[in-house]
Amino acid sequence: MSRWKQKRSVMRRYDLTAQMYDQRYCEEQEAKYKAALEGLTITQSSVLLDVGCGTGLFFSHVADKAEAVVGVDVSRGLLLQAKQRVRGYGNVFVVQADADHLPFKQGFFSFVFAFTVLQNMPKPVETLKEIKQVASREASVVVTGLKRAVDLAVLGEWLEHAGLLAVSLRDDDALQCHVVVAVQA
Ligand SMILES: C[S@@+](CC[C@H](N)C(=O)[O-])C[C@H]1O[C@@H](n2cnc3c(N)ncnc32)[C@H](O)[C@@H]1O
Repeated sequence: MSRWKQKRSVMRRYDLTAQMYDQRYCEEQEAKYKAALEGLTITQSSVLLDVGCGTGLFFSHVADKAEAVVGVDVSRGLLLQAKQRVRGYGNVFVVQADADHLPFKQGFFSFVFAFTVLQNMPKPVETLKEIKQVASREASVVVTGLKRAVDLAVLGEWLEHAGLLAVSLRDDDALQCHVVVAVQA
């Protein structure tokens, strides 16, 4: 399957199941957000990117701490729900885009998050390289790998090949994902 065909089929799957997303995954994702944010210092001048933001469940965890939060996703169905969610905030924005072609200036973001996204990507290393491009030199990049789909060692290799250095791992048994914080190597 071509890369774009694979992406289109992922997009359709999420579009079709968008209405049930929060009900099905909210609790599971919330646990990952809490683990990811432990030890990170987000300030009022921080600009955050949430790659593959889905319905925007993460936004409420960071909107009041940061200057701005941008969510990017390929699924229109999920983004419509994220759009409803951002109405309550003046500093959260959503954009429909492919994670491999992020429409932002190089080095723009102080934090980039990608929760449970890499298993959907045809070339995860390419996606991580793109994430690295839009992250500032001092940024923290937080990525999670679904345990049933991505071995921790493989996730580590992807990060290394993308030029990112893992600096901490949150790997509580209760989490469905390995949660890794990385910086530019
Ligand atoms: C398991 S969901 C996680 C959603 C969200 N991060 C959360 O914590 O609830 C995976 C997300 O990745 C998005 N996604 C998949 N392929 C993508 C791509 N090529 N570009 C951007 N987002 C993508 C899906 O639309 C979906 O929102």
